[in-house]
Amino acid sequence: MSESSCTHDQQVIELYTALANNPARDFGWEKGRQNALNHGYNETWIAHLPAQLWDYCAAVGNPFTACAFRAGATVLDLGCGAGVDLCVAALLVGAQGTVIGVDITPAMVQLARLHAIQAKLENIIVHEASIEQLPLPDNSVDIIISNGAINLAGSKQKVFEEAWRILRPGGRLSIADMIRDEPCEQVHSCDNDSWADCVAGTLDKQELLDIMKTSGFHAPECVATTHYRTARTTVGATFRASKVTDTGNTVHAG
Ligand SMILES: C[S@@+](CC[C@H](N)C(=O)[O-])C[C@H]1O[C@@H](n2cnc3c(N)ncnc32)[C@H](O)[C@@H]1O
Repeated sequence: MSESSCTHDQQVIELYTALANNPARDFGWEKGRQNALNHGYNETWIAHLPAQLWDYCAAVGNPFTACAFRAGATVLDLGCGAGVDLCVAALLVGAQGTVIGVDITPAMVQLARLHAIQAKLENIIVHEASIEQLPLPDNSVDIIISNGAINLAGSKQKVFEEAWRILRPGGRLSIADMIRDEPCEQVHSCDNDSWADCVAGTLDKQELLDIMKTSGFHAPECVATTHYRTARTTVGATFRASKVTDTGNTVHAG
């Protein structure tokens, strides 16, 4: 790990440990049950899953809108936090499916495991690891989701290369993340304090699409932007892409 990504990671772990320990604290960005509702999370999911889980919803978009989740699929959530999207994915893929979470903050990993138990979802596995180095074998996952986490990683290229490696041919990526909303010198040179708050690490839409493409993804596209902002210069957005099959076929992500 380079020195700067190490610093970023430490800031991230510090801030998300504080969120894990005190979900009611105001960090300057929307979170909680109302945040989930604002992103169009289904009220049935909200009613079905433990109320406490929703206090931790730090979603910046809704990764469940841009891709179909078939029963029995294996889903990976990059930067799963306290497990909100893990639990939703587990409802969608059913007991025959598997849902895997990866997060770098130990307190979030513990919460995600606890919430899976409280929700009685036995098909959720959570790893404490960096999304820049996934502890998973090649070609082992059908769908990759993520919500507000990739912008926090020091190397987006490594994240997408790892995502491509572990995705099965024909598999799909459906993510929500913060992107830079306008060219802003200040964002490039801003101090590190805003890295963990989803500001300094953001890229613009085209940069992110280019990285997906150079990492091997087929037809990456930005599906929509969301209402979510972490600063004047950042906005939430949803993206999708796929990995071609050995025969060159693609699966339509819609
Ligand atoms: C804004 S929160 C979003 C959590 C969750 N996806 C949600 O929607 O509620 C970002 C999460 O990404 C995790 N994270 C940030 N950088 C990471 C990295 N390099 N590897 C793994 N997890 C990371 C943080 O620990 C935190 O839990």
